[in-house]
Amino acid sequence: MHTVSSDVLQIPSRMLAELSKPFIGREEEAKVIVLALLTKEHAVLIGEPGTAKSALIRRAAQILNMKYFMYLLTRYTEPAELFGPLDINALKEGKYVRITTNKLPEAEIVFLDEIFKANSAILNTLLTVMNERLFYDGYTEIPVKLWSLFGASNEVPEDPELEALYDRFLLRHHVRPVSDDQWRDLLRAAWNIEKNGYPKPETVVDRHVLETLHRLIFEVDLSPIESKLLKLFSVLESKNIHLTDRRKGKVLKVIAAHALLNGRLTASEEDLLVLKFVAPHDIDDFEKVHIILSEELRTAYRYLKELEEIYASIKEVDSYVSSFPSVNSRFIEYRLLEIYRDLESTKERVLAMIHETNDEKVHRKVHETVLYIDSVIDKIKKKIEGR
Ligand SMILES: Nc1ncnc2c1ncn2[C@@H]1O[C@H](COP(=O)(O)OP(=O)(O)O)[C@@H](O)[C@H]1O
Ligand SMILES: [Mg+2]
Repeated sequence: MHTVSSDVLQIPSRMLAELSKPFIGREEEAKVIVLALLTKEHAVLIGEPGTAKSALIRRAAQILNMKYFMYLLTRYTEPAELFGPLDINALKEGKYVRITTNKLPEAEIVFLDEIFKANSAILNTLLTVMNERLFYDGYTEIPVKLWSLFGASNEVPEDPELEALYDRFLLRHHVRPVSDDQWRDLLRAAWNIEKNGYPKPETVVDRHVLETLHRLIFEVDLSPIESKLLKLFSVLESKNIHLTDRRKGKVLKVIAAHALLNGRLTASEEDLLVLKFVAPHDIDDFEKVHIILSEELRTAYRYLKELEEIYASIKEVDSYVSSFPSVNSRFIEYRLLEIYRDLESTKERVLAMIHETNDEKVHRKVHETVLYIDSVIDKIKKKIEGR
């Protein structure tokens, strides 16, 4: 048994709540950012303009007491804009020295907006910074303290030259506009933000805390999910979703981080859902992977869907039963007994879910469904007894 202070285990979920607080329907996006921070990896948010991508990443920087650098890239962005200008005095003596003060090489958290506009003049330097955590511009080599680099973009890059950069983002997420049932909330939230600005974050996390959390992910027991993960790799592959070997290996960190985010030091099947942030490449893949995972995994989402269907079918049974005046024939009695037995076995199936998942929402819905089944069973009993 590991002895980890429960305070530490609560930090990731607090970060998550703090991050998504001012926004509507941005919980998944916040999760991607927190997972990147826990794994010390890079994440990119892809989606149409105005979906709060930049606002979210800026807020992430606010909840971290770490050195931050952000820049909006264009095709014409020069290396000096990101990495600092060359020192003119040194240049006169024939030396190439960059003044990196307050520029990307000194930052721990970096946000590059429109990241895929990066041109070849900055691309290679960027790759080394992300992968080796070394700044190398052909003259000087400096180790950098970069923790995570966040990117935002309107689209998945198509230029093969950008493929290496894209692969460096272990976490990728397609940000979609909020759904129509959340438009009313969106109006309220946007009005509030316009009027009062963003609420100041209450929790602020420093590098030391992040380092502690990062070390903790390697304490997570991954044995319960290993064979299922291997199976998912082949299912994805069979549906033409290919993970590079780099991503196959690194996904373990994300799975462990997700367990940690849920306050656990043991991975479970629902942690495998994070594959939806790691496996997709093209824009269509995001939806595809999501569907594959919800079919393959016993997740809360899947249980809730099943419960919804069960609830709807009981509703039908309920109105069918109610339409019987009272038992006046062997046939009706027989039909009612049949329905009764079906309901009993449905109830058993529903109750079994309590042992299969510990998701609170599922438990609540199970409770509600069982109460409903009991009420219909009661109705049948009364009809059979001729009341
Ligand atoms: N889901 C949302 N919840 C609350 N406000 C939002 C949401 N989406 C967009 N907004 C508002 O729209 C603004 C534009 O977002 P921005 O971060 O610039 O988008 P992007 O970077 O995706 O183009 C935000 O600052 C916020 O005020
Ligand atoms: Mg933006």
